[in-house]
Amino acid sequence: MSKNKFYVTTPIYYVNAEPHIGHVYTSTAADVLARYYRIQYGKENVFFMTGTDEHGAKIQEIAEAKSMKPKEFTDEIVAGFKGVWKSLDISYDNFLRTTDKDHIEAVKWVTQTLYDNGDIYKGSYQALYCVGCEQYKTISELIDGKICPDHNRLCEVHEEEAYLFALSKYQKQLEKLISSDEILISPVARKNEVLSFIRGGLEDVAVSRKKEKVSWGIDLPFDETQTTYVWVDAFLNYLTGLGWPKEQKLVDKFWPVDVQLMAKDIVRVHSTIWQAMLLALNLPTSKQLFVHGYFTVDGKKMSKSLGNVLRPNELIEKFGADAVRYSILREFPFGSDGDISEVKILDRYNYELANGVGNLVQRALSMINKYSLKPTKKTTDVCEIDECYEDVKMRESISRNMEELHFEAILTDVWQNVIRPTNQYLEEKKPWELAKFDLVELARVMEIVYNELFLIANYLEPFMPETVEKMRFQLENLKPEPLFPRIEKEQ
Ligand code: MSP
Repeated sequence: MSKNKFYVTTPIYYVNAEPHIGHVYTSTAADVLARYYRIQYGKENVFFMTGTDEHGAKIQEIAEAKSMKPKEFTDEIVAGFKGVWKSLDISYDNFLRTTDKDHIEAVKWVTQTLYDNGDIYKGSYQALYCVGCEQYKTISELIDGKICPDHNRLCEVHEEEAYLFALSKYQKQLEKLISSDEILISPVARKNEVLSFIRGGLEDVAVSRKKEKVSWGIDLPFDETQTTYVWVDAFLNYLTGLGWPKEQKLVDKFWPVDVQLMAKDIVRVHSTIWQAMLLALNLPTSKQLFVHGYFTVDGKKMSKSLGNVLRPNELIEKFGADAVRYSILREFPFGSDGDISEVKILDRYNYELANGVGNLVQRALSMINKYSLKPTKKTTDVCEIDECYEDVKMRESISRNMEELHFEAILTDVWQNVIRPTNQYLEEKKPWELAKFDLVELARVMEIVYNELFLIANYLEPFMPETVEKMRFQLENLKPEPLFPRIEKEQ
């Protein structure tokens, strides 16, 4: 297995409603990582996996309410997800739908294998189940022990014949793998939460539901009166998306997965059920689960059920894909919760994109044209601009921050330590004055700026691929055009 390979995943999203800005956040981050590591390791050594989680009671409920077949309904929503990913330049290598034939076969194979090994067994289960979250809840998570705080809806009590997965058997092993960082859970506060949850005792979990209740699911091969619990079905996408278990090639190359992105809502199930399933299948566990922050919108919790979602398509139409990608990752550190709003995106857009990088490129190229200069692209990375990071220092900092998923720190660095000093350099050197008495110095100064612009393009490439393509074209052809036309605030 190549050491320099990178496999990144997003959760596969529920298709009960259109994609929202929370989904965009995770997928943009995954895309930035994939693009960065493709540049470092080569395209063939990176795999970026995403998709949709399509089974379960909730989808069934919504489709029925719309008098549609579940698959018909999910086809429609999936088209919406794919549309947003296309507009945002999300460069996934595979988009898996849990309704894909090969995935369904694989899920059946896994449930049968775990049943044959004794990891899945027949029992009964009593549980509080929130249809909104598609998750069983513990009493302590609920209001008055029965109402889901996220969906403000009464949980169902399930006491029924079910098949259970022997999660408790893996408690000690999971605790060891997580505390030793063999399964790295970041940020560390999340690791500690997960560990105390595990130490509180893991119970065996139901991995099936009665088909009469949830018919929109994958049948258990050894008992067709039951369908597979959605999480077991969904987790397997991370493997089936690589062709497993039919095709071994991509699994050999990319498994174990390097980074699995998610928010705090699903880290517990990923750290316990999913990792225990891998252990039960004799497969290596995930290398890292990275838990990013939760968005609020204008200070309020955003959720599909509460209806205060920011619509990606509208934002992309207004600001362009790259400005959306940039501003959501720039706004707050990736592992912390934070607030986002259209006004915040607009401010970033005008200040850092229109007045910042956009203005710098346009100004520099206009001067180069005005004074008929012919700057050459150099390969040295000595930087003469005061307070501007040398290329080597910037690349080191990007590499370290990418490893730690500190996207915001990278963008701050590019802005504070490269774009701003380069702008200042132009102010201080006053090329318009030099043009009057020192043409040699003028050419030298503008060549330095010109070369710095190529470096800025390199740094921003994973974040703003479309802009960087335009920027490089403008630089190569000395053709300035506004990259980010200013947008006025609506009164
Ligand atoms: N289908 C399951 C995941 C199965 S993975 C094997 C699911 N889907 S979901 O549509 O609800 O997506 C949850 C994920 O969407 C979060 O973990 C996070 O990645 C992203 N986000 C959803 N809302 C978000 C915010 N408000 N803020 C940040 N991320 C959000 O759970």
